[in-house]
Amino acid sequence: MNKTSVKPAEGKLGVLVVGLGAVTSTFMTGVLMARKGLAKPVGSMTQYDKIRVGKGEDKKYLKYNEIVPIADLNDIVFGAWDVYPANAYESAINCEVLKEKDINPVKDELEKIVPMKAAFDHNYAKRLDGDNVKTVKDRWDMTEQIREDIRNFKKEHNLDRVVVLWAASTEVYVPVDEKIHGSLEALEAAMKADDKEHIAPSMCYAYAALSEGAPFIMGAPNTTVDIPAMWELSEKTGMPIAGKDFKTGQTLVKSGFAPIIGTRCLGLSGWFSTNILGNRDGLVLDEPANFRTKEVSKLSTLESILVPEAQPDLYTDYYHKVRINYYPPRNDNKEGWDNIDIFGWMGYPMQIKINFLCRDSILAAPLCLDLVLLSDLAARAGRHGIQRFLSFFLKSPMHDYTKGEVPVNHLFQQYVMLKNAIREMGGYEADEEID
Ligand SMILES: NC(=O)c1ccc[n+]([C@@H]2O[C@H](COP(=O)([O-])OP(=O)(O)OC[C@H]3O[C@@H](n4cnc5c(N)ncnc54)[C@H](O)[C@@H]3O)[C@@H](O)[C@H]2O)c1
Repeated sequence: MNKTSVKPAEGKLGVLVVGLGAVTSTFMTGVLMARKGLAKPVGSMTQYDKIRVGKGEDKKYLKYNEIVPIADLNDIVFGAWDVYPANAYESAINCEVLKEKDINPVKDELEKIVPMKAAFDHNYAKRLDGDNVKTVKDRWDMTEQIREDIRNFKKEHNLDRVVVLWAASTEVYVPVDEKIHGSLEALEAAMKADDKEHIAPSMCYAYAALSEGAPFIMGAPNTTVDIPAMWELSEKTGMPIAGKDFKTGQTLVKSGFAPIIGTRCLGLSGWFSTNILGNRDGLVLDEPANFRTKEVSKLSTLESILVPEAQPDLYTDYYHKVRINYYPPRNDNKEGWDNIDIFGWMGYPMQIKINFLCRDSILAAPLCLDLVLLSDLAARAGRHGIQRFLSFFLKSPMHDYTKGEVPVNHLFQQYVMLKNAIREMGGYEADEEID
């Protein structure tokens, strides 16, 4: 592929976010503040990272937008759906992630972002009881209504392209059922038959986005686009998909730290991770059925980095546990503890403790920006289906499990995949040289 085969980032880019809570309001406020020059988009790879292109004497380090055409922050137009009617300004104030002094300079713009009625089913998030919800006949009608929202938003703001990002609550766990989720035909039939058990509202958003020619990104651990039916739809419509679950705090640490143990051939006998957090995300995850979705996603990280079959002496039967505890006083300021039991020479045990006092939405906001901009880039480059190069940003990266593919969770391998995709889309050679 050469540079000219990537379409330029001309015109306006609509960013439609499902869920206008802590992550979304922090993301939107930061982008609006950054484009006024009042804040820095710290943590965003597309805004800061430099990639080496070329080798030896020809090598140079370029920012992403010097290699590939990335949409300008000034061209972004935000929209959202939420179960609650609060606009983006009210949401930013209510969520208490940012100080008022960091919100007020863009108050006017935020107030104009009023959430559209949500495609929602109370059974998928029992702790939520907002009434800004669509009245629908069945799941198919739910999808049709979302499609109409996307078309109207595009027309109203004269947009060139749209990306849809899920930053809404984690839904209850929907296990993949081959009969329903295995093909597009079966999925559509289930939507038309109003199969509420197998068709989560998030699937209706994803189906609508892809059908309207918009990439879809799953920021929660929901199985939504992690099913063959959605892969088929994304191939049919030529749209990229990415997911699942933003890799922000504890899992970021885990996917960066586990390679220390693995590359030094140290043994692992247990890894216990626990968190306290008190925002609405924490409240929803306090419900066991919703936590199950998160647990599955969080647990998958270690097993593909420290692989028991590859090193039976070092990694057989290690105990891996992940806990999230709802604790209101901390709000969005999550605290994570990791206790890691390792062993060394002749099996002698040692312990490592990590205590991360993070800010959930502050870590998630730059990922939202990067995932949106890079999915838009991927669409313009003609890439469709699962975008594995975005695994870097995700806790439970999608991969075609029907073909025996395994996810890449190792942070530094993911970074190589990201850099190589940018290089290739920019017309440069992919390589594995360490910078
Ligand atoms: N912040 C992080 O570090 C992080 C990391 C990984 C994943 N996530 C995920 O990102 C998501 C957002 O997190 P948050 O802290 O902003 O949560 P939040 O509770 O503050 O916001 C989520 C919003 O989604 C809305 N919502 C729920 N179902 C909806 C639907 N069907 N349609 C439209 N809106 C709907 C809720 O009303 C709520 O306002 C969660 O699923 C969370 O698990 C966050």
